[in-house]
Amino acid sequence: MRQYVRYLCDSDTIDQPDMQLNEETYKTLMQQCLSLIEGEPNRMANMANLAAALSNATDWHWVGFYLLDERRDELVLGPFQGPVACTRLFRGKGVCAEAWETGLPQIVGNVHEYKGHVACSAATNAELVLPIRVQGRVVAVFDVDSVHFNAFSVFDVNALEPMISALENSWNLWES
Ligand code: SME
Repeated sequence: MRQYVRYLCDSDTIDQPDMQLNEETYKTLMQQCLSLIEGEPNRMANMANLAAALSNATDWHWVGFYLLDERRDELVLGPFQGPVACTRLFRGKGVCAEAWETGLPQIVGNVHEYKGHVACSAATNAELVLPIRVQGRVVAVFDVDSVHFNAFSVFDVNALEPMISALENSWNLWES
């Protein structure tokens, strides 16, 4: 199980339990995600298809990736599905930056209570960000936004682990 630092969500107060993905759905989704990227060496193409597969199968408002721009020391928008998003994210500001700088997953039940939250869409109420770590460094983050408060829990962090691990293990083998 991955460590996590911020959990602004009381799992007893999830307001839309039916909107959460169950274990079976996640299992099928992860199998689909892994087979989508199997054998394909292009990193951008793989991330694009992962975002599309996840968006298509869920009610997530926004799902996608921010990539580390090493030259500028910023996160830059990668493949995603959903409304237009902030192109660049900066150190010390927002949920994605927190995942980048700490290397730990971030679960935010109510983004309006998260100091420094970078609001790309007014409809977002909850957010989950998982770092993608390669050789001890965060190379990208996987970001999901939901319109439902308290939409995410540790269950989602663990359920998404097969995809995150596949990304981490293949990252340096793929062509950028
Ligand atoms: N809310 C994020 C910014 C990215 S968007 O949600 C797509 C953050 O606070 O870092």
